[in-house]
Amino acid sequence: MGRVICPANLNKAGEGMEQTEEWIFVFDSGLGGISVLRELVQVLPGERFLYFGDSQNAPYGTRSTEEVRSLTEASIAAFLPRGIKAIVVACNTATAAAIESLRAQYPDKIIIGMEPALKLAAERHAGGRILVMATNVTLREEKFCALMDRFSSVCRVVPLPCPGLVEYIEAGCLDTPEVRQHLHHLLSPALAGGVDAIVLGCTHFPFLKPLIQELAGPCVEILDGALGAALQTRRRLESGALLRPAAQGTVEFHNSLNTPEILDISARLLDARR
Ligand code: DGL
Repeated sequence: MGRVICPANLNKAGEGMEQTEEWIFVFDSGLGGISVLRELVQVLPGERFLYFGDSQNAPYGTRSTEEVRSLTEASIAAFLPRGIKAIVVACNTATAAAIESLRAQYPDKIIIGMEPALKLAAERHAGGRILVMATNVTLREEKFCALMDRFSSVCRVVPLPCPGLVEYIEAGCLDTPEVRQHLHHLLSPALAGGVDAIVLGCTHFPFLKPLIQELAGPCVEILDGALGAALQTRRRLESGALLRPAAQGTVEFHNSLNTPEILDISARLLDARR
């Protein structure tokens, strides 16, 4: 599929653009949502994707819930004039803070959110010890507490806040001595207790999966919700008869930093090693 990398100023989004209801808007606090976008591109190769990363305000995971909600709402509102048929909130943190208010504001839009893939992990590792790596906001919000309650009789859930990791991915550092050391520091105490599976509950973290697997060892299964979210998007488009007829798909990247570097990293992440 073709890829259009089109720097644009968020404030100008929508100006002078065609207004057909055919874009799928994929949003994240920064570049993490590209781990969801790469699955979307696989399962919906004929679609047109508009990706917006709010890297200028990342990380969201250490902000207040209200800040995350208002940043998320502002980003989505800025792109709606482009003609958006579906919104994928490719960010666990923004989903935890804002999905309900978004669904209330836009009841007619398809809105897909992310949640840590704990259901899948519990099904595959009943009785096991499951580590959930996510941001502070995701882990403290009601949504995750309810999810954890739901599966606490099936498996032992260990939430692990991971401050500082997102910044490496935002800088395009997927394998440097510093990121290895930071991961080692975060994960070693939890891994020492024995772990059966690790849930990547932040969309930035799949880009570090090779390093996390190396640290955890080959017997630990690492799961994330990207493919599930992509398949759910396809189901919703199918049932609304909103799939684009056989056509060449495109990806258009936008970022609030609006620098050539951030767009280069965005394009590189779409093809990053899994
Ligand atoms: N990518 C985001 C998530 O899935 C959050 C990263 C951040 O802290 O901004 O949670």
